[in-house]
Amino acid sequence: MTADPQPELDGHVIAVTGAANGIGAATTALLLERGATVVALDTDREALAELATGTRLFTHTCDVTAEDQLQSAFERATREVGAPVSGLVNNAGVAAYFDAAEMTTDQWDRVFAVDLKGVWLTSKHALPHLRSRASEASAGAGPRSASIVNIASIHARLTTTGMFPYAAAKSGVIGLTRSLALDLAPEGIRVNAVSPGWTRTALVQEWFDRQDDSESAERSVLDAHPLRRICDPREVAEVIAFLLSDRASGVTGAEFCVDAGLGVRFAA
Ligand SMILES: NC(=O)c1ccc[n+]([C@@H]2O[C@H](COP(=O)([O-])OP(=O)(O)OC[C@H]3O[C@@H](n4cnc5c(N)ncnc54)[C@H](O)[C@@H]3O)[C@@H](O)[C@H]2O)c1
Repeated sequence: MTADPQPELDGHVIAVTGAANGIGAATTALLLERGATVVALDTDREALAELATGTRLFTHTCDVTAEDQLQSAFERATREVGAPVSGLVNNAGVAAYFDAAEMTTDQWDRVFAVDLKGVWLTSKHALPHLRSRASEASAGAGPRSASIVNIASIHARLTTTGMFPYAAAKSGVIGLTRSLALDLAPEGIRVNAVSPGWTRTALVQEWFDRQDDSESAERSVLDAHPLRRICDPREVAEVIAFLLSDRASGVTGAEFCVDAGLGVRFAA
């Protein structure tokens, strides 16, 4: 009889922002299934409480725009888990539906605070912990390499009307991913981006609901996709889990699109 293989993410401690809903919740569930310990961070206290419980899940109410909350969340997580984080998924994000001529500077600042600055700020406070894991790994002591996965969007490449300035913030996430990948490569910390296309979450439902005829809007969105459907959060989570794993040990500074083929379709 052959022994069960060791779960792929056994020994990894991974923080996920925006973990309470949608892609973040699917990622949390998949990482737990693959053997990781997960530190789930979100502002949505009620939804956090509904995540599956277990000895490898630690939840913290935390806003990615608040530096003090991030610092204490990572410090507390290290104490609770007994080991620093080895991976980070910067997933928290908000959609934006504004007119460039009418949007206020406060509204602009809020979108950028969560969708772009939050990615940097969370990485900043995760870094001391990631660094200590990376140096243990290079000394052959601790488990595995350290890495960051940033959730950008298909809007970094293609966009639709009425979503100003989401595309600008998400384009920034791709640039930030490349910069961090270069800066952290000498320490063995990998940084990659995943760009989901339309994915079945509350964020996409909100867009359908905003259309005059939401059913026909949804039909034409599905028809536009080469796979004739949009993705499920679990399909995005699979790519995130791969990038965090040692199977992706040679991948850094890359962007992976999970968009049911939409990004390669020429409208004709
Ligand atoms: N759903 C899609 O089609 C799609 C497509 C492209 C990119 N994305 C990106 O994927 C990520 C997840 O999207 P989703 O569809 O799962 O969204 P969602 O709205 O279902 O979940 C987002 C989560 O982020 C949390 N959050 C929001 N602001 C926060 C903050 N300041 N601090 C901490 N947590 C915060 C929310 O509470 C929520 O739990 C986002 O970055 C989004 O831009 C989604």
